[in-house]
Amino acid sequence: MDLGLKGRTALVTGGAAGIGAAIALELAREGCDVAIVDVRRDEKAEASLAAIAAAGVRATFHTADVRDFSLAERTVREVAAAAGRLDVLVCCAGVTDDALSWKMTEAQWDRVLDVNLKGCFAYCRAAGALMKDARAGRIVNIASINGLRGKFGQANYAASKGGMVALSKTLARELGKFGVTVNVVAPGMVRTEMAAVLPPEVIEKAVDETTLGRLAEPRDCAAVVAFLCSDAARHVTGQVVQVDGGQYL
Ligand SMILES: NC(=O)c1ccc[n+]([C@@H]2O[C@H](COP(=O)([O-])OP(=O)(O)OC[C@H]3O[C@@H](n4cnc5c(N)ncnc54)[C@H](O)[C@@H]3O)[C@@H](O)[C@H]2O)c1
Repeated sequence: MDLGLKGRTALVTGGAAGIGAAIALELAREGCDVAIVDVRRDEKAEASLAAIAAAGVRATFHTADVRDFSLAERTVREVAAAAGRLDVLVCCAGVTDDALSWKMTEAQWDRVLDVNLKGCFAYCRAAGALMKDARAGRIVNIASINGLRGKFGQANYAASKGGMVALSKTLARELGKFGVTVNVVAPGMVRTEMAAVLPPEVIEKAVDETTLGRLAEPRDCAAVVAFLCSDAARHVTGQVVQVDGGQYL
């Protein structure tokens, strides 16, 4: 199916690795020029950038911490100015810093909320303003099923991801009449660096929770994001799409 994304411009936060890199590549394969925003520019980031460029589209990298509010505004404007447009924003940058709630420090709480929720708001705010003026746009925010169901040891992370859902629904209401859709993809556990640090028994438990008997690969999330960014999804907004193999039914 042609998703109608050829010639569009997408900005993907957290696109250096994992799910974000898979999303950036999928959008590139659909013909989008892609700007990656990420705090790390290591070998994985270079590989992600090279894969996008190999798809025959324009690939740019912007080193930025998504917590930096004014840098978010500048980066979004820079990407849009260079391309002459900004059609798609995917907020995928995220971190975990787990602890039981009674042991969690203020610093752990603040870091996870700041990266996951404030960072998402910073980019949505800046991109949403441009899309509103252009009267078109697609925003997809990557939350988690743990933001819907809660998760033992993840008070900060679950709150940040639940906050992203509420933020996205609010933006969908505010931006709808300007032709901008805002949706959420909520993955279950996905095979990335974020999951690789977990003890084997936690990963086994997650596999057991799924009805499909396996964890997602990053590309499973990317395919759904690409659909939500497409013309085919023009009437879908304010929705949370779980990509979790039935992990949270
Ligand atoms: N892996 C999973 O099981 C899983 C499940 C559900 C949701 N998610 C969500 O998917 C997203 C991607 O996760 P992943 O598994 O690919 O993780 P990952 O650690 O492989 O990639 C996350 C990316 O975000 C970037 N990043 C982190 N902090 C940043 C900051 N302050 N500013 C800019 N960039 C920053 C990292 O450098 C990295 O490139 C996250 O939002 C995560 O919460 C992951």
